[in-house]
Amino acid sequence: MGFKGRDVISIRDFSREEIEEILRASRRMIPLAEGKKTSHALDGKILTLAFLEPSTRTRLSFEAAMARLGGSCVTIADPAVSSLRKGETLHDTIRVLSSYGDAIVLRHPNEGAARLAAQASAKPVINGGDGAGQHPTQTLLDLATIEEAFGTLSGLRVVLVGDLKYGRTVHSLAHALAIFGSEIVLCAPPTLGLPAEVREHLETIGAKVTVEDELSRAVRDADVLYVTRIQRERFGDEREFAKVSGSYRIDRALLANAKPKLAVLHPLPRTGEVAPELDDTPHAAYFRQAFLGVPVRMALLALLLTGKVP
Ligand code: CP
Repeated sequence: MGFKGRDVISIRDFSREEIEEILRASRRMIPLAEGKKTSHALDGKILTLAFLEPSTRTRLSFEAAMARLGGSCVTIADPAVSSLRKGETLHDTIRVLSSYGDAIVLRHPNEGAARLAAQASAKPVINGGDGAGQHPTQTLLDLATIEEAFGTLSGLRVVLVGDLKYGRTVHSLAHALAIFGSEIVLCAPPTLGLPAEVREHLETIGAKVTVEDELSRAVRDADVLYVTRIQRERFGDEREFAKVSGSYRIDRALLANAKPKLAVLHPLPRTGEVAPELDDTPHAAYFRQAFLGVPVRMALLALLLTGKVP
C-alpha cells in the first residue's frame, strides 16, 4: 500500500518496512528542516491543524514542516476560540475542516477521537495525540532519534520510565520497538503501569518485555532511557497525582554507572523528571529529538500528500 491519502491514526497502521521508508525519507529532509536547502514540494497544499489540547512541539513542528516544503497551515490552536465552544460536534468540525485543506492533524483529549475524525473527513487525518491513546508521529521521531544515535533500531535495551498508564507516546513507541526487535523494560510507579490492552498487544506480537521496579537497576544495562512526565491532566483526582508526583528523577548521580552511549529521550515537556544538569552531557538526546520532529513530519506530509519525497 502506498502512503498517498492514508490516515495516520496509530503506529500499528504502518509495517516495519513502511516505517523504515519514512525514516529514510526523514534523513533526506534534515538539510531542508535546517534551512540549508529549499523545496516547493508542497506548494499550494494546506494542512489544517485542530489542536484541542495544549501543544508546543507537535503543532509547531507540523507548521514548520509545511512551511519548509512551501505549503501552508490553517490552525485551531485553542478550542476556546473555535465553534466547538458553542457546542459544535467533533464530527461537524472535522467535516468542515476537511473541505478547507488537504489533510488534518488532530490533537484531542479523548482516546479514539482521531479514528472518529477519520470517518468524518474526506482528507487524511493524522493523529497528533488522542488522550491516553496513541501519538504515532511522536514515535516516528523517537525512532529517528534512536536510529541516529545507534545506527540501528534492533537489539537495543530500551527502558520506558514514568507514566506508562497515561503516556500515549510510550503506547505507540513500545509497539514500534517490538517490531524492530529491541527489548523493552518497563519502569513505572506501581499505579502507573502499562495498560492491559497494550501489554496484551505486545505479548501477541512477541515483544521482549520485562519489568524493573528499581530505576537505578534499570539504568545499568540500558541503551536508551525513554522518560515521560506524569500526565497530570489525565488524573481525575488531584490527590492521586500528588501521591506519585516527583517519584522519579534522572540526574547525573543516577547515570554515574550507565553505559557511556546511553541516550536519554523525553517527548517533552519535562516537569522535573529530567534534571537540567543532564542537558550538556552526551546522554541528552531530547532536544535533538524535538528538532527531528520537523524532518520526520516533512517526510510524512510529503508522502501522504504527494506520494513521494522531494
Ligand atoms: N511531544 C509532544 O507531543 O509535545 P507537545 O505536547 O508540546 O506537542
